[in-house]
Amino acid sequence: MQVDIVTIFPAMFAEPLKTGVVGRGIERGVLAVNVRDLRDFTTDRHRVVDDVAYGGGPGMVLKPEPIFRALDAIAAGAGAAPRVLLTSPQGERLTQAVAERLSGSPHLVILCGRYEGVDDRVRTRVDEEVSIGDFVLSGGELAALVIVDAVARLLPGVVGDEQSVAEDSFNRGLLDFPHFTRPAQLIWDGIGPAELAVPEVLLSGNHAEIRRWRKRQALARTLERRPDLLSTAAIAALDDEEREILAELKKSRETAELP
Ligand code: ADE
Repeated sequence: MQVDIVTIFPAMFAEPLKTGVVGRGIERGVLAVNVRDLRDFTTDRHRVVDDVAYGGGPGMVLKPEPIFRALDAIAAGAGAAPRVLLTSPQGERLTQAVAERLSGSPHLVILCGRYEGVDDRVRTRVDEEVSIGDFVLSGGELAALVIVDAVARLLPGVVGDEQSVAEDSFNRGLLDFPHFTRPAQLIWDGIGPAELAVPEVLLSGNHAEIRRWRKRQALARTLERRPDLLSTAAIAALDDEEREILAELKKSRETAELP
C-alpha cells in the first residue's frame, strides 16, 4: 500500500513512521509512506499556505491551490487514482470497520486539515473525510498518524502474528479480554497476593476453559463499558457459546438490579 500525506508539519511524521508496527511495515516494503510538505506546492517567495477567511472571523484557512497542486503531483506519479482522505472533525468517525475498508485501498492520500479550516473547494477533490473522534485537534497530523497505524497493522505481513490481528476483539465488535504475563504471584507495595494474582483458569492449561473465560470477560466488559457495541448485528455475529454467555450475563445483571 502507498500512502501520501500532505501536511504543513512534515517533521511530526519522522519518528512515528520509523517506529513500531508502522516502521516494520515500511521496512518490509508492505507499506510506503511519502510525507509531502504543502509548502513545496506554493509558488510565492514566502511559501504561503493559508489566508484570512472570506466573511471575516478569526483563524486562517488553508488555501486551495497548493493542495490542488499537491494532489495533481501525486496523481501524476500514480497509476490508478488514489483514494483521497481529509482529516476533519466533521468526517465519518474512524472505526475498525473504516480501517478495514481503507486497508483494501492500494493508494491513500491523507490531507491534513487545520481546525480553523480548509478552503471548502478542496472538498471537490476529497473522497472522504475522516474524524478520529469527537474532540478538536489543532491539526490533522495526529489524526493522519492514527489512520496510518490502524490501517497498516491490518496489511498482511505487517504484524508478526497474523492470528493476533484476526483475534483482536474489536475485529469481532467486542472489547478485549484481560491479559496477564509472569509472574503469576505478585506482592507490590503491600497489595496482594490475592488482589494481584493471575486468574487460576489461565494457569490451568485447559484451553477450552481458557477460551470460554476469555469470551466471558470480553462480553462482560463490553456489556459493562460499551453496551452500545452490542447491537443486534453484533450479537448475530457472535458464536453460539458467546450468545449463551451473553444471555447468562444479562440475566445475572437483571437479578443483581432487583431491589
Ligand atoms: N482535525 C481536528 N480535529 C480532528 C479530529 N477529531 N479528527 C480528525 N481530524 C481532526
